[in-house]
Amino acid sequence: MLKPSLSEAKKRTNKEVLTKSFEYTNLDNLKELGKNKKYFIRTYGCQMNEHDTENIKAILEDMSYTETDDYEEANLIILNTCAIRENVHNKVFGMLGRIKNLKERKDDVIAAVCGCMAQEEVVVNEILEKYNYLDLVFGTHNIGNLPKLLEKAVSKKEIEIEVISGEGSVLENLPVKRDSKYKAWVNIMFGCDKFCTYCIVPYTRGKQRSRNKDNIIEEVNELVEKGYSEVTLLGQNVNAYGKDLNENYGLAELLKDVAKTNIKRIRFVTSHPWDFTDEMIEIIKSHENIMPYIHLPIQSGSTKILQKMGRKYSKEEYLTLFDKLKNNIKNVSITTDIIVGFPGESEEDFNETIEVVEKCKFDSAFTFAFSARVGTPAYKMKDTIDDDVKKQRLNKLNQVVNKYAKVANDKYLGKTVEVLLEKESLKEGFLSGYTDTMKLVNVEADKSMLGKIVSVYITDVKTWSLNGELRS
Ligand code: SAH
Ligand code: SF4
Ligand code: F3S
Repeated sequence: MLKPSLSEAKKRTNKEVLTKSFEYTNLDNLKELGKNKKYFIRTYGCQMNEHDTENIKAILEDMSYTETDDYEEANLIILNTCAIRENVHNKVFGMLGRIKNLKERKDDVIAAVCGCMAQEEVVVNEILEKYNYLDLVFGTHNIGNLPKLLEKAVSKKEIEIEVISGEGSVLENLPVKRDSKYKAWVNIMFGCDKFCTYCIVPYTRGKQRSRNKDNIIEEVNELVEKGYSEVTLLGQNVNAYGKDLNENYGLAELLKDVAKTNIKRIRFVTSHPWDFTDEMIEIIKSHENIMPYIHLPIQSGSTKILQKMGRKYSKEEYLTLFDKLKNNIKNVSITTDIIVGFPGESEEDFNETIEVVEKCKFDSAFTFAFSARVGTPAYKMKDTIDDDVKKQRLNKLNQVVNKYAKVANDKYLGKTVEVLLEKESLKEGFLSGYTDTMKLVNVEADKSMLGKIVSVYITDVKTWSLNGELRS
């Protein structure tokens, strides 16, 4: 049993990051493990978590498991969890209750928890106390060991726990079963060293480790060859890409090189305002295949609160960067993340956040009530805000955010936009996809058009989507 340790997770050293190549050991013996068995996996977290799920699926299928979307008929249930806010914990623990029930009714069910919650010492202690009917818990650094861990979990009565809390390495060549045939996630870095005072990610994902640029470009080239049209470069702080490698090669250079692969669309998330350079703006604006869409979390409009959050920029610095992006990148769409109810947030601080939203008129924003995470500095901060007040502030903020989301979408009425058709819509005979600026568009089109980038004339505008007609 290898349990997570918060004190280990907090450590940062100058130790060199190892890049390893994933290889199956003993696959011949494990190949039959999932024969005639089904797996169900649910993902609770961010894009990186979703991409981990794509790796886990491929490993399971190499072991002959087949996927089901009904957990009741699965022989293997995996919950790939997120630790960012308490409400995700509640959902996961609720699901664990249903799994207990299923295990009582059905033999031969293996249940596993992985992802960021598995990295939390408090969570694993709770699992051992109250949910020890689980078979396996493995951490974000342990995915490469999944075949062996499953073999143990299947043959053993007690719960198997393997969670490393170290700074982490870089694991190349993991197999992947991508959800889409048209767009793909590509990790460019792992972990985070920013330690914003509210955030648990630096403890669940380890230190910042950038992938070697050649491996990234090779992956994108392979995707182009397979017919993919879009890649999203992933990291908690993509703008800090390369800082840990000391090779004078950062996101600007990487974007430039990825653009040369001739993939049709390049996106990148998430950008931290702290590391956004003029050079990056120059590269984005001068490449047709780098999309004019930037997710730029502000978190708060009050410099006092930003300081307490450890974000290392002021309201004014954020606004200056925001204006620079708007003025330089044609038609750029900018979205953000905002937390309300951080400890010490006064009514004036909150009003400053509203003012900034009024000023920036974000294309959209993800808004959250502050959730205290064990082990983070903000967990121990005084002047906590009542839940009622948090809720009121969140409601008020959402109204303003929604108003401007509609204003931003209204600009598309009567315009023709390029859309990558990627899915069938809920509405029969319709397909959906995104514009270069990340607007969701529904359009009547035949299924044979999936995967194509088409021109769509926008006829109708809603707060969260656009409707249109195909134009040739
Ligand atoms: N790396 C990204 C954010 C990843 S987490 C960045 O730095 O911008 C996604 C969002 O969740 C954050 O931007 C923040 O708005 C929110 N979040 C993180 N921790 C939170 C907490 N403890 N309570 C509420 N929201 C939180
Ligand atoms: Fe969390 Fe801050 Fe790192 Fe984003 S930059 S993952 S909010 S610590
Ligand atoms: Fe959640 Fe972990 Fe992502 S905490 S937001 S799944 S990095």
